Amino acid sequence: SLEGFDHYMLKEIYEQPEALRNAMRGRLDDENATAVFGGLNLTPQQLRTVERIILTGCGTSWHSALVGEYLIEDLARIPVNVEYASELRYRNPPIENNTLVFGITQSGETADTLAALRETKRKGHRALAVCNVVGSSIAQAADGGVYLHAGPEIGVASTKAFTSQCCVLAMLALYFGRLRHLSFESGKSIIEDLRQLPNAVQQALTCNEQVRDVAKKYQNASTVLYLGRQYNFPTALEGALKLKEISYIHAEGYPAAEMKHGPIALVDDETPSVFIIPRGTTYDKVMSNMEEVKARGGPVIALASEDDPQVQAVADDVIAVPQVAEFLQPIVNVVPLQLLSYHIALLRGCDVDKPRNLAKSVTVE
Ligand code: M6R
Repeated sequence: SLEGFDHYMLKEIYEQPEALRNAMRGRLDDENATAVFGGLNLTPQQLRTVERIILTGCGTSWHSALVGEYLIEDLARIPVNVEYASELRYRNPPIENNTLVFGITQSGETADTLAALRETKRKGHRALAVCNVVGSSIAQAADGGVYLHAGPEIGVASTKAFTSQCCVLAMLALYFGRLRHLSFESGKSIIEDLRQLPNAVQQALTCNEQVRDVAKKYQNASTVLYLGRQYNFPTALEGALKLKEISYIHAEGYPAAEMKHGPIALVDDETPSVFIIPRGTTYDKVMSNMEEVKARGGPVIALASEDDPQVQAVADDVIAVPQVAEFLQPIVNVVPLQLLSYHIALLRGCDVDKPRNLAKSVTVE
């Protein structure tokens, strides 16, 4: 039931702190400074020999796979490839021995993801699932995996599944890292960062009213650009997808530095850009990208760390997001983007929970 919320999407956005707690429950092992999973069905010895990981999925789950690529390469130093499931199933790429494949899926019923997993299994590779729905087709087809425990997601626009998937991928990265080079101390600090995450997301939700005002201002845009770098590049893609699917406004996500290679030609005074610019490694670079857009008359909405006068001096609207470790930023930063698409869609009179032309699970290819 809606439990007082106007829409399932909004309810599910607000359920994220709890969904994250559920995703982590019983999986953080302080004694060994690692994560534990009950259902991988592979021994540490087998997992120790993994030399490459392929992450595959569709839509939002493909975006969390992109976050997973940064996470696993960063924390575990294992090379990762991300594939659209619909491409992977027919592309027939050479896959080396000791490659582990993960299908990422909320529903566990996405036809392309299921087919991609079956195809890689047929070739003799281990195929695991990161999945929300217990007992779903993909959960059954996989050799093992990790459940999100996010609870049912009813809104067609995926919200809490995305953040839970990123959280599970962070725990997997920690686990793989601790089987390899990652020290006890580093493992401990990653666990601490993970523990703070639900509260940070709770705090991010307090921007709702402010985001609604921003939504009013930009509700009539016909194109919106979403820009971020590194961990926040997939977040930009996800923000753009949310806006497209429920408000029917054309939106594009790009790594911020790609702007000058073409998309900046779209910028005019009616085309807003959403910059994801928290403090972190590429802050200065994203700042210059933001200034370039501003100089061409484009309205700028910035998602920034609290108290950032430098961003405030450039952007037209600033939404403050709590500061968390860089590898967890997508989980916090996506929250205002989910809310922005929700409010814009509402203002435009769209059916938020059941957008046109879309189904909750895509069981045809
Ligand atoms: O159930 P899945 O995670 O496999 O679904 C994949 C996509 O169909 C899904 O994420 C879709 O892109 C959502 N509507 C996005 O909000």
